[in-house]
Amino acid sequence: MGTKLIIDTDPGVDDAFAIALAALSEDVDLLGVTTVFGNVPLESTTRNALRVLALCGRPDVPVAAGADRPLVHPQRRRAAHIHGSDGLSGRSAALPEAGREPDPAGAVSLLVSLLEAADEPVTIAPIGPLTNIALLLAAHPRVRDKIARIVVMGGGLGGGNITAVAEFNIWSDPEAARRVLVEENVPCVLVPLNLTLRCAVDSAWLGKLAAAGPIGTALNALTPDYLASYRKVLGWDGIAMHDAVAVAEAISPGILRTESYPVEIDCTLGPGRGATLVDLRPEGARDEGEGDVTPSTIEVAVDTDLDGLRGFVLGRLSRP
Ligand code: RIB
Ligand code: CA
Repeated sequence: MGTKLIIDTDPGVDDAFAIALAALSEDVDLLGVTTVFGNVPLESTTRNALRVLALCGRPDVPVAAGADRPLVHPQRRRAAHIHGSDGLSGRSAALPEAGREPDPAGAVSLLVSLLEAADEPVTIAPIGPLTNIALLLAAHPRVRDKIARIVVMGGGLGGGNITAVAEFNIWSDPEAARRVLVEENVPCVLVPLNLTLRCAVDSAWLGKLAAAGPIGTALNALTPDYLASYRKVLGWDGIAMHDAVAVAEAISPGILRTESYPVEIDCTLGPGRGATLVDLRPEGARDEGEGDVTPSTIEVAVDTDLDGLRGFVLGRLSRP
């Protein structure tokens, strides 16, 4: 079996594609899915995660709900204007009933038990706000050794989406994002908007998905509200499957080209809040005089074979 993976998610239309990508990949051992507030409230993200796994025929994958709010400062803006009132273009109810409840132990407990039980290091793919992962690392530092790497969809180099400077996942809980990406020193890959927007797929791609089989038809049926929103962002008929790009890297290491950079997160309460500050200066030009401390770096995804990535995702989602 290939990659051992846990997804932390706020479904969300692109989250649904990402969860399905992992659930339908035979070379992925999807150990569990944990949910977090984000695109829509926690109750909806949790229901949606359960239903997407039911759609993919994966009732074996445990689901547990986590944080319904950020670590420190309230952040009440969701993204229903992009993902629809229920997080899935109003079509969540069209998905199969989950027929089960989430694990009452909760997200952090499920993460700890899965990591402790794993016989090899586990990849974690947070594709929503990073609150659960910050809580995990703060309360259970010993699990760090069981984490292979954390592949985060988040950040925007030089620009955002929810504000002019901030990307939604980071902006939703900047303190949590800073904990995970800056303070914890766990191997991280950041997959920012700059790349995920370039990986957007058009209506022809969605048409192939819809024609691929019942799962593809059902996933495509979740896109109308998201498509309407991204038509304005892209200027053409298509969607950005941000989270599927990050999960593609999580399950196929190296599908994205990455570079190492120091990263900082703006946790102020001003207009810059939630901005991801990536120090793109050449390594030798980063010193800041006497006493400067060499900042730690993380991997930042900067490029990929766009059509290759699109084909990889379509091929995996087209599994009968
Ligand atoms: O900014 C894009 C990210 O925010 C994606 O994860 C999307 O699902 C939303 O959570
Ligand atoms: Ca998401």
